[in-house]
Amino acid sequence: MLAAGALLASLLGPALVYGAFDVGYGNDDDLSRSLLFEVAIYEPEEVIPGYWFIAPYARITQEKHPNQNTCDFRVFEANDTTFLSAILTPYHPKDPTGHAIIFDSSMQITQRHHTPNALVPFNMHEFNVIHNGKTAMHIIQKSQLMDVSHLKDNPGIKSGLVVDMGIREFDLVTGETTFKWWAGDHVNLNASTYPVRNLNGPFPNAWDWIHLNAIDKNHEGDYMITARYTDAVYKISGKDGHIMWSLGGATSSFVMDAFNFTRPHDGRFLSSDATSETITLLDNGGCEESISAETSSALIIHLDKSSEPWTATFHELTSSRHRPDDGRSEKRGNFQLLPNGNAFVGWSENSYISEHSPDGRLLMEAQFTSHRFVTYRAYKFNFTSAPSEPPVLKAFAYGESVDQSVSVYYVSWNGATDVAIWEFYDEDDALLGRAPKSGFETTFSRSSRYRDKVYAVAVSAGGVVLGKTVLEDVEYPRSWTVSDGRQEPDDRREGSMSSGEKDEL
Ligand SMILES: *[C@@H]1O[C@H](CO)[C@@H](O)[C@H](O)[C@H]1NC(C)=O
Ligand SMILES: *[C@@H]1O[C@H](CO)[C@@H](O)[C@H](O)[C@H]1NC(C)=O
Ligand SMILES: *[C@@H]1O[C@H](CO)[C@@H](O)[C@H](O)[C@H]1NC(C)=O
Ligand SMILES: *[C@@H]1O[C@H](CO)[C@@H](O)[C@H](O)[C@H]1NC(C)=O
Repeated sequence: MLAAGALLASLLGPALVYGAFDVGYGNDDDLSRSLLFEVAIYEPEEVIPGYWFIAPYARITQEKHPNQNTCDFRVFEANDTTFLSAILTPYHPKDPTGHAIIFDSSMQITQRHHTPNALVPFNMHEFNVIHNGKTAMHIIQKSQLMDVSHLKDNPGIKSGLVVDMGIREFDLVTGETTFKWWAGDHVNLNASTYPVRNLNGPFPNAWDWIHLNAIDKNHEGDYMITARYTDAVYKISGKDGHIMWSLGGATSSFVMDAFNFTRPHDGRFLSSDATSETITLLDNGGCEESISAETSSALIIHLDKSSEPWTATFHELTSSRHRPDDGRSEKRGNFQLLPNGNAFVGWSENSYISEHSPDGRLLMEAQFTSHRFVTYRAYKFNFTSAPSEPPVLKAFAYGESVDQSVSVYYVSWNGATDVAIWEFYDEDDALLGRAPKSGFETTFSRSSRYRDKVYAVAVSAGGVVLGKTVLEDVEYPRSWTVSDGRQEPDDRREGSMSSGEKDEL
């Protein structure tokens, strides 16, 4: 089944599609005006309401392209309303370090946050606004000389450059840092199972030894980080920064009962009591030479600290959601537990997503029809937006003559969530017709006398007018003679259906 993507998936989509046109993917047959998802819904009544938040990109480094990639695109609550946040990735000619952005529900950017050190790129993995919009957490990074003699695969070097990573929490109003922590001060380099020396990037030739990809904070004020290259998650004291426990990897504080994970992503606190904690985690299952599972899975892990040794368990039946196609996501991905206990999982490749019931049944799976775009993460949220930019209309007339014509109107409103009906009017405000909103762009056609100017009005399900387009000229075939002379002959169309489509992207 082919369906238009959830509306918000397109919020940043169309601009990014542009950026990817020239990346040399062969022809562009896989692209259309907005990105299309192939969707299979198995149990429609069990899939909860909400929009998908997906930020597609073709290549993470876009030096040569006009648009910036977006990561970690999501909703947060503050000031009794909802906002959107995202990371604009670094290495763009006009914004080499990238930065984080916040949008309000009119789809205007209201805040931009750069890293405190202007020379260091904003890490692309996590921008997590918490405490009702007061603070945000992100991953910090620096290169520094360390004793690397115990680093795996080290060819005998004593002191070498590593990419150290850490956590920063800061006040969104004042910019003041409220918590800062570096992994290299607390975790031994020899815990790294996969030190990678990248030739390019911000720290050429430095060992990327831990590769943090997620930060969470619990009600007690402690943090959890997920580390791809030490195969572990760590709980960190918000008071003094000591590691309260680690799970997985070389130094696990827990005996792991009949399960393991490698190259994990997106560790999150779920619940806790005096002697136990429950967390969620995406087990990617490994990459390259180090593979622990054929397929990736989303895990709910129970940590029992009631007696020594501490144990970590998970229950195959209720808490593991395997990637539905049995594939392995070697990079990226996330696992969001929805309010009713459904699992929403981003498997990253082709923006593959799935929703599962609390007992693990597959309810829905979807991915882009185009195979050139990944998304770093995918989320599901409710969100209401009323963009301050007006909707956009293009109108074309076809046929033999003014009196015997068919007019086709194309209308869209990027980011608007509440449009139910589009109404079309001529310049004398006479209603020409109505069409239920359908997908990203609604098409409406009517055969009756040509009107030379039209506009469209967006109406909610409750009948409220949400916005209207400007009055647009209807483009008509060159062969027509139209008496008002408003169009110069050279501006007229050739009369083919496809002309003008490029303007809408
Ligand atoms: C919430 O309101 C306060 C006070 O007006 C403001 O400083 C803050 O920026 C707002 N938060 C967001 C996310 O806009
Ligand atoms: C890692 O380094 C620490 C500190 O030097 C040492 O105690 C530990 O035994 C080492 N672990 C491994 C697996 O080599
Ligand atoms: C853990 O991972 C290894 C591969 O590294 C695998 O062979 C083993 O079966 C896994 N153990 C469990 C209990 O899943
Ligand atoms: C969206 O709102 C509905 C109604 O309140 C709720 O049942 C559902 O869980 C929400 N969806 C998400 C993704 O939070």
